[in-house]
Amino acid sequence: MEQKINAKFEALYHTRGSVYASPGRINLIGEHTDYNGGFVFPGAVDKGIIAEIRPNGTDRVRAHALDLDESTEFGLREEDAPKESWARYIFGVCREIIKRGGKIGGFDTVFAGNVPLGAGMSSSAALESTFAFALNDLWKLDIDKFELAKIGQATEHNYCGVMCGIMDQFASVFGKAGSLIRLDCRSMEYKYFPFNPKGYKLVLLDSVVKHELASSAYNKRRESCERVVKAIRKHHAEIEFLRDASMEMLREVKDEVSAEDYMRAEYVIGEVQRVLDVCEALERGDYETVGEKMYETHHGMSKLYEVSCEELDFLNDIARKCGVTGSRVMGGGFGGCTINLVKDERYDNFVKTAFEEYKARFGHEPRLYNVVISDGSRKLHD
Ligand code: GLA
Repeated sequence: MEQKINAKFEALYHTRGSVYASPGRINLIGEHTDYNGGFVFPGAVDKGIIAEIRPNGTDRVRAHALDLDESTEFGLREEDAPKESWARYIFGVCREIIKRGGKIGGFDTVFAGNVPLGAGMSSSAALESTFAFALNDLWKLDIDKFELAKIGQATEHNYCGVMCGIMDQFASVFGKAGSLIRLDCRSMEYKYFPFNPKGYKLVLLDSVVKHELASSAYNKRRESCERVVKAIRKHHAEIEFLRDASMEMLREVKDEVSAEDYMRAEYVIGEVQRVLDVCEALERGDYETVGEKMYETHHGMSKLYEVSCEELDFLNDIARKCGVTGSRVMGGGFGGCTINLVKDERYDNFVKTAFEEYKARFGHEPRLYNVVISDGSRKLHD
């Protein structure tokens, strides 16, 4: 991939630039908890975005997306926003840096990726982190790593219409080979957990479906949570996020919120606790409990939060049938992957069964990715 990027860069701009990379992510547990101030438990993967970049001495950006074979050009003022959705991620990162006082100029770039788009592994965060990291390095801006992640998140909010939490960008920037990271999204405290379960594999099964309107449904989930917090605050002024609320507090406002909002909050409050339970279980090496919690998350995401879909529920059922230790829909939902914790001896049968039955039911096979937990944003070379 890198060689193709180099060749294209040279062909388009007749020079060479510096090369940067940022990964996509998995999340063991803690879904839709980040924007509720709760815990998440992600790790970076060995797939991501690579970009070659070189300042060009002008105030314009020339960008080429190798996978789409599309080029565009834009300026750095708010009114210069490009039309192409892929370019808005780069433009957004530039704008968010400028808004924070960062002095950057125009540049030329070619980028490509091998994070599957729409698979729930956060290719967009990988793209944002690549450029936030690279521009910070090239213009020696001295922005700290948390702020780089926040620049990516703000790009989603202000230029891409997704009111996401911080998990994806955080994992992409802070990833560390062999470790998952538990992040407290309220205090932003984090801890690396070496993750190498002996006798188990962590695999993703990609449903290869991405349902329309995923981002507006995502934003609606967030609004539900915020409404419930408002209702609870009338009784408990100290509650800032759903993470601070208990099931008991939620029950108190049952008649003050809609049945739908209630279900959403019930899922989130349960999920915040599940992350902590999983961390404890991991410290004991108790993977059976980790797996059970993953199934509980799937159930909650499917029945209470309603962000699963037929294909993902089907993959989850197959996992159970094949004796897979843990399985659940990963990421925002509405398509993408299930993440599965599988005993070595069950792996072959699980993969074979999943491929056969999924194809028989939906007419195409799922895709399989073996997870390799890897490093975060970095410079590959000058
Ligand atoms: C998306 C968002 C994240 C997070 C997950 C769900 O990936 O970008 O911030 O909310 O969904 O856990």
